Amino acid sequence: MALYVVTGGAGFIGSHLVEALLERGEQVRVFDDFSTGKQVHLAPFADRIEVIEGDLCHLEQVRRAVAGADYVLHQGALRSVPRSVDNPVASNDVNVGGTLNVLHAAKEAGVRRVVSASSSSVYGKREDFPLVEDVGELEPMSPYAVSKLAGEKYCKVFTELYGLETVSLRYFNVFGPRMDPNSAYAAFIAIFAAGLLEGRKLTIHGDGTISRDWTYIDNVVDANLRAASAPDASGEAFNIACGDSWDLNRVIDKLRELIGVDGEVEYGPPRAGDMPKSQASIEKAKKLLGYEPLVQATEGLERTVDWYRQQGTLST
Ligand SMILES: NC(=O)c1ccc[n+]([C@@H]2O[C@H](COP(=O)([O-])OP(=O)(O)OC[C@H]3O[C@@H](n4cnc5c(N)ncnc54)[C@H](O)[C@@H]3O)[C@@H](O)[C@H]2O)c1
Repeated sequence: MALYVVTGGAGFIGSHLVEALLERGEQVRVFDDFSTGKQVHLAPFADRIEVIEGDLCHLEQVRRAVAGADYVLHQGALRSVPRSVDNPVASNDVNVGGTLNVLHAAKEAGVRRVVSASSSSVYGKREDFPLVEDVGELEPMSPYAVSKLAGEKYCKVFTELYGLETVSLRYFNVFGPRMDPNSAYAAFIAIFAAGLLEGRKLTIHGDGTISRDWTYIDNVVDANLRAASAPDASGEAFNIACGDSWDLNRVIDKLRELIGVDGEVEYGPPRAGDMPKSQASIEKAKKLLGYEPLVQATEGLERTVDWYRQQGTLST
């Protein structure tokens, strides 16, 4: 049994990781400041995990969090492009400073490997789809994307300079149960699914042709577990996605079909910092991590709608 520290473990992705690690019989410690993470996400397994409440921006607190850890799955961050456009300093403090603290503390503590959550946003505005990881210079379009790219660079430097094993995973629009549709920075699918189930008019920024490589949560969990132990992965960054791209109008049509409602849509001005398209190549992850998407977008949408329905209430 190994000790895994999950930073941001009370969040959407982190809490799914915690659950999967416990299913594998691992020991789990969560480090989270509960700014967007929720106790309720951890409630089903609260008696089987250690929880340290703390802030990634405080090195001493991070040191306590990673003490004795074998692996760190670093998910804690201020997620969302619009949030970083509103407050770039806060995004930088947590996503860059916090990641640096995690790496520094992990090096001191002799952690075997840090797997760090990056983002497809690091690619910026590109037209060479599908996106491959090692294409030279990247041009992020938002403070959030800059912060995620800086986190990746720190990971690589810690591997090359100090021998700390690190892997960065560039997640492409993750969705699934426990996504909060009520946050000011909620993800597209959460907003659309909740809106349709509640019979509200949906607002789309732009004309709905923005397209994304929607990635169901189980794929991201599986990629993290693989990345923690894959022999040739250290120092590398990997796309974690399905390799497919659906525009927002197609997602809404599928959700309408699954939920059985028409759902009115209003089109508004585009949002600053949003990329027009993203679609990943997942060849590198297939080759070096043995990764294969376990759940494609259609099935993921079905499972997500079922979960929202079972909740009875959309408030997570
Ligand atoms: N959800 C996606 O589609 C997506 C896509 C690309 C990358 N990511 C990355 O995946 C990771 C997890 O994202 P998520 O969707 O689960 O978001 P989330 O907001 O649900 O989870 C982030 C967690 O980090 C915690 N946190 C934030 N600031 C902190 C701080 N200063 N100290 C300690 N904990 C702090 C929050 O409380 C929360 O539990 C993030 O690094 C995010 O950038 C997510």
